[in-house]
Amino acid sequence: MGSEFLLEEQRESWGSRGGFILAAVGSAVGLGNLWSFPYKLYSHGGGAFLIPYIAALIVIGIPLLILEFSIGHYTQRAAPNAFKRGHKRFEFVGWWGIILGFAIITYYPVILAYCFSFLWYSILGIFNGGELPWAGEGIEGVANAKKFFFDDYLGYQEGPALGSVRMNLVWPLIITWVAMYFCIFRGVKQVGKIVWLTVPLPWLMLLVLTVRGLTLEGSMQGLVYYLDPVWSELAKPSTWRYAFGQVFFSLSLAFGVMLTYASFLHRKSDINNNAMIIGLADFGTSFIAGLAVFATLGGMAYVTQQSGNPVSVADVATKGPSLAFVAFPYALAQLPYSAYFSFIFFFALVTLGIDSAFSITESVLASIVDKSGWRRSIVLPLLSLVGFLIGLVFITEGGLGWLDTIDGFVNGTRGIVFLGLLECVVVGWLWRIETLRRHANSNSDWKLGKWWEYLIRIFIPIVLGVLFFWQLFDDIGNESGFLRKPDGEWIVTNCVGVGVWVLVPVLAVVLSLVRGRRDIAEPSRPELELEIKGRRGGLWAFGFALVSAVLLLAALSRSVSVAAGEVVSNPLYWLMVVGGVVAVVLGNYVLEKTTTPSSQSSWLARWAGLLGIMDISVFVALVLVGFTAGLEIDESPKVISDKLGGVSYIILAVVFLILIGGLGWCFYRALAAAGKDSGIQHVDEVGD
Ligand code: PFF
Repeated sequence: MGSEFLLEEQRESWGSRGGFILAAVGSAVGLGNLWSFPYKLYSHGGGAFLIPYIAALIVIGIPLLILEFSIGHYTQRAAPNAFKRGHKRFEFVGWWGIILGFAIITYYPVILAYCFSFLWYSILGIFNGGELPWAGEGIEGVANAKKFFFDDYLGYQEGPALGSVRMNLVWPLIITWVAMYFCIFRGVKQVGKIVWLTVPLPWLMLLVLTVRGLTLEGSMQGLVYYLDPVWSELAKPSTWRYAFGQVFFSLSLAFGVMLTYASFLHRKSDINNNAMIIGLADFGTSFIAGLAVFATLGGMAYVTQQSGNPVSVADVATKGPSLAFVAFPYALAQLPYSAYFSFIFFFALVTLGIDSAFSITESVLASIVDKSGWRRSIVLPLLSLVGFLIGLVFITEGGLGWLDTIDGFVNGTRGIVFLGLLECVVVGWLWRIETLRRHANSNSDWKLGKWWEYLIRIFIPIVLGVLFFWQLFDDIGNESGFLRKPDGEWIVTNCVGVGVWVLVPVLAVVLSLVRGRRDIAEPSRPELELEIKGRRGGLWAFGFALVSAVLLLAALSRSVSVAAGEVVSNPLYWLMVVGGVVAVVLGNYVLEKTTTPSSQSSWLARWAGLLGIMDISVFVALVLVGFTAGLEIDESPKVISDKLGGVSYIILAVVFLILIGGLGWCFYRALAAAGKDSGIQHVDEVGD
């Protein structure tokens, strides 16, 4: 007990539960909500996109958030040292996430810098009698807004060449880094206070934009684009990948951010309910942001129709990231009080993004400080300087293309989703996950059942594995080439992306091998490493997994498409996966039945489980490739009407039911638990 108190004294902590929740919400709710969620939903099936998104949020996002909170809170360490507590060989998993997080803080502040610039233009607009530099009328006006962003502001040049640094972007980038620096330089207690401003303020702005958008004439037209589902999009792998990738990015999962934030939590803190509140609040913000954006676009379409120079929502809402910097500013410029609302929009973006950006900096910082013992006051300025200098690459003339490529590798199935998979298998198969569940339950307003262990150990790794292999097979089978075009020309950006992707784990391993300072005080909590006595089952399980793997590799040795075709047309091929399933079931059984010191075959059981999961994932990915290859996807444009379809109303009702019902339930549980807590200590709190 003594050493634990010592540890608590040395480690900073959040001032209050609210401070932690808001900081975690602040990290989660960011540019991803107002900038990328609406265009991803619009580009990938409208309301249909919500099916994979909500499924991913509930079945993967929130359970993983609970996992990260419990690892951080249990170990009271930032990601690398937290994973090291499991076993020293796992430290690299933590560094892997931290390095990916570091990659994000080289380009995320660049997008924030755009927001600062546009905020500045809006302020100038207010003083210039409402004139905005991107304003224009009709379709030419749209071209003008595009020209303003891509040519005048970014000086964008397509292609791998970087070109020179854009001087007009240097100042906004410096301002972004300085702002981030001042938000965190005093430590997490101060962060816990700042977020009382940076979280509610953008919500208020969003509310203003939503009410304004929905009360505009023609707003329903916009919502049709946002919500009317295009079901055929569900047959495309990209829809699922984007939905899952977006959940990870939006919840800041797998970067070690949530884990690090939870490491600063007070000893007796809720974990499960906090995670659910944060997950739902994040989704709610995204969804409402989309309503605000598309309702406003609808209003714009109506106004331009009336003026005889019509521009439809589809004309401006190109399926891409320029939604926030071209489409929305253009739409606002068509409406009254444009400069004021533009100010509100970019102010919302800046305040939304800043706490997400500094949350990543904080987790990188805490990891370095935890490992090296160097002072925050020295590491933070250095880290900011390095982040800024690397960020200069992304404000060159070719910078946007590079930003897009790096983002594609870090943020999505190839980057974080893969890391999420690794996190689950390490914790599920190589650690004592039950200890973590007990720990999460010990002070939480509601308790996790055994199902959570199966989710982390089996279900989530399989789903993430399928996504990873599905993407891999897609890249390999890409007809226009992935690394090289059919004419032999190298695709430089993708090559660099793959280089970065390979380099990150190598660097993570190297960092984990560097000797750090001795840990200040070893916490008294029992080790997380799994020690189990093996049974023969382990050997059997491993054998099954191996047979399955060999069969799959043999099938794949010809080509992915041939293997996928055979899997679909000949059910006999399904036998390939039986070994994998048996291995997972048997491995899981051995793990659960044996609890005393480790032996050879217990390790076999664990590796059997891991290999079995890979087998199943590869197999399911093959099946999906096979099925979707034969599918005729209806690409005809969606039929647009002025009225929202009946299905869209159902979608709206379901989303609000999930949000209001879910959050209401969470608050009810929190209140009920607080009521009980005021009395006597619970039995399960004793001894933690
Ligand atoms: N969740 C943030 C967003 O949606 O914008 C982005 C982010 C923050 C990603 C922190 C990763 C991270 F570690």
